[in-house]
Amino acid sequence: MKSSTIKLTKHKIKHVNFRDLSSISGFSTDYGTHGIYYFPARFIPHVVRYVLDKYCKDGCIVFDPFAGSGTVGVEASLCKARSILWDLTPLIKVLILAKLAPFDKNYLKILEECILSSMEYPDTFCPDWPNIEDWYPSDLLYILKKAWAYYYNEFPDKLEKFDFQKQKHISSLYAVVLLYLSRRLSYTDDSIPKLYRSKIKKMKINKYLNNPRKIFRSIAKRKIKDIIERIRIMSKFLPKNNHLPNVDAPVDALAPSYWHISWPKKIDIVVTSPPYLTAHEYIRSVKLELYWLKFRHTTIRKLRKYEIPYRNAPNVNINSKLYQKIEKKLCNKRLIYFKNYFNSLFTIFRKIIRRLSPDGILAIFAGNSTLCGLEIPIPLIIVEHLLSLDLKIEEILVDKIKRRKIFKGRNNLNPEGIIDESLIIMRKS
Ligand SMILES: C[S@@+](CC[C@H](N)C(=O)[O-])C[C@H]1O[C@@H](n2cnc3c(N)ncnc32)[C@H](O)[C@@H]1O
Repeated sequence: MKSSTIKLTKHKIKHVNFRDLSSISGFSTDYGTHGIYYFPARFIPHVVRYVLDKYCKDGCIVFDPFAGSGTVGVEASLCKARSILWDLTPLIKVLILAKLAPFDKNYLKILEECILSSMEYPDTFCPDWPNIEDWYPSDLLYILKKAWAYYYNEFPDKLEKFDFQKQKHISSLYAVVLLYLSRRLSYTDDSIPKLYRSKIKKMKINKYLNNPRKIFRSIAKRKIKDIIERIRIMSKFLPKNNHLPNVDAPVDALAPSYWHISWPKKIDIVVTSPPYLTAHEYIRSVKLELYWLKFRHTTIRKLRKYEIPYRNAPNVNINSKLYQKIEKKLCNKRLIYFKNYFNSLFTIFRKIIRRLSPDGILAIFAGNSTLCGLEIPIPLIIVEHLLSLDLKIEEILVDKIKRRKIFKGRNNLNPEGIIDESLIIMRKS
């Protein structure tokens, strides 16, 4: 097959500030429940909203195979669209229910009372986390173990007066509070997503040991208040009877079995932000959360093996001159990640295109990366290849990254982080 090169000038690359473009310009990037819990490289909701504002018609169906913390699902619900979300990280199941919880003024009281009761609970829950004691001082760990035991054993009974759907929402809200406490009260550094013991955090935690119960209570109360306020704000924008996203996780988007599920007749829009080539390790970043959510150590290890670009992927005939040029120049050590990365993405995009309705939209948010000192123009390689697959360019928008917290620092091959990112919007022809 002949490789394509593109003259992008033809397609008007627009330099934009996404925050100013959509119907939520002026809103902060963590407005409402988007900011309920940290997730690495979370989408700027404005990017998703821009695509939905412009391309989503009534009743449209949106899909995100790399949904992370569920930004696409939340924005789709706000725009009265149906959505299907996949991710390798199962945390999304809790986050999406919490982010789309309907507001109820009783939540504050219930959550606060339960947190207080949980501190007196006689049982403890111990996650399947080897060396957990290395991550917490024993006094705080004991309180956390009680709180989680209460959540698993007693909390469901407190929700009996609510209907089943509301019970799921409240339960997720409570889990978010406990996850927040479990991270804040650990030795892991708050500014690095992966588990990492820092001296500063250790000093902070040691100060808490004067009165661990008081600290636990006050952090919990603050977080509950914050969450309820976020839900209250979001409820102003959420349409009545909004569509809850259809979430499947953990899903390895490369595994053929997931593509055999019964799909809706058509997918109208795909909005997605694929994993990064050099700034990755999502499962490691949410390991702490997964342990407390009862995932077993062996399961977590297994999930890490499916993460792009570490996993092997079927060979794809990649139709991009840029790709071929870089492939020849890359050092051997990183070549495998480079190949795995694009083979994975293009295998998945191909499956998506098959399910996309005629005229359907594929919107991909991605940025350049560096491997062995070489700049990898990921968006351009994606465009070059997709042009050979029955897609045409609608528009390409480029924005400088302002706040996206990515994996800087330790062992990162791209310590500067990603400088700017592009939103590639293509249409099935
Ligand atoms: C850039 S993040 C997406 C963030 C998301 N847009 C958000 O707003 O939270 C990329 C996601 O790809 C997921 N991922 C990595 N490998 C995957 C795989 N094999 N199958 C499905 N998802 C995968 C990661 O878990 C991560 O959540």
